Amino acid sequence: MTLAELENNKAECLAEIAAASDAAVVEALRVKYVGRNGSIPALIKGMKDVPKEERPAFGKAVQAWRAEAEAALAAKGGGASGEKPVDADLTLPGRWWRLGVKHPLSRVIEETAQVFGRLGFTVADGPELENRFNNFTALNTPAHHPSMDRSDTFWFGEDCLLRTQTSPVQIRTMQANRPPVRVICPGRTYRRDTTDATHSANFHQIEGLYVDTKPVSLADLKSVLAYFAKEMMGSGVTVRFRPHFFPFTEPSVEVDFSCHVCKGKGCSVCKQSGWIEVAGAGMVDPRVFKFVGYDPKEVSGYAFGFGVERIAMIKYGISDIRWLYENDIRFLGQLG
Ligand code: DAH
Repeated sequence: MTLAELENNKAECLAEIAAASDAAVVEALRVKYVGRNGSIPALIKGMKDVPKEERPAFGKAVQAWRAEAEAALAAKGGGASGEKPVDADLTLPGRWWRLGVKHPLSRVIEETAQVFGRLGFTVADGPELENRFNNFTALNTPAHHPSMDRSDTFWFGEDCLLRTQTSPVQIRTMQANRPPVRVICPGRTYRRDTTDATHSANFHQIEGLYVDTKPVSLADLKSVLAYFAKEMMGSGVTVRFRPHFFPFTEPSVEVDFSCHVCKGKGCSVCKQSGWIEVAGAGMVDPRVFKFVGYDPKEVSGYAFGFGVERIAMIKYGISDIRWLYENDIRFLGQLG
């Protein structure tokens, strides 16, 4: 086809469209000219056979034809892109896409950060690959403590390990800041545990630390954890402390929440005791302060640590920790 012929065909096409009076004719013209097997796409396909020197001008003319034809068809109510009129029952309800939900562990971490944020705590972070000093030594763990055993901890050489707790972030935070220090430290932790309904080799903890130059007491710790318990588990929940031992706190306690399910009366969730163990805590041991270069005569503070999985399981009534790692949408969707 020569350029002149093309211009002729174009004029004819535009005249036909201009004369079209009903939708069926417009649609037929659309198919004839711009449809997939129409004459304009055919011309575009045939461009390779047009002599090289004529190709640019020819191409331009074809594109102009297509644009004008599509505009003319559109002006006549024909879809330029060839969409058929909607052939559907517009009264049918729409398709409902399920929104994603936050993972229970993320929820517990975020909620905890919010609750403690209201008390002036910020979030601190530390690496999952730690050294011996931060994970054990500075936390006053004796050199031959069983938790350092190769059967309990993932070691990489003599000095490098996957942190077994979030407590090393306490050490990093105190080394990098002068008191007052008020942080929570959520993160992944690792232990050589065999997986079962309540254990996983990789789990999550949240550490808390408050150190100040004004006296800090066990009563401060209890009031903060009592506030956390109420915000997290419901307004009726109370806390109790039981004496315990941790190398990095003195005195040390284990923290129980009253059972939010039976309100302390005794049920299967709390194993009939009315209480659920949730955290370890205590007053920071003076030896820990010495390890980070704080003067124990000038500062005091408390620390606590709890398992994120444990809180999530209690809060949402999850009976097996493995549900938290399988990403089964049927499980996760229930918390929406
Ligand atoms: N790190 C302890 C654990 O993994 C939990 C813990 C107990 C953290 C007492 C603390 C604390 O900060 O004071 O079992």
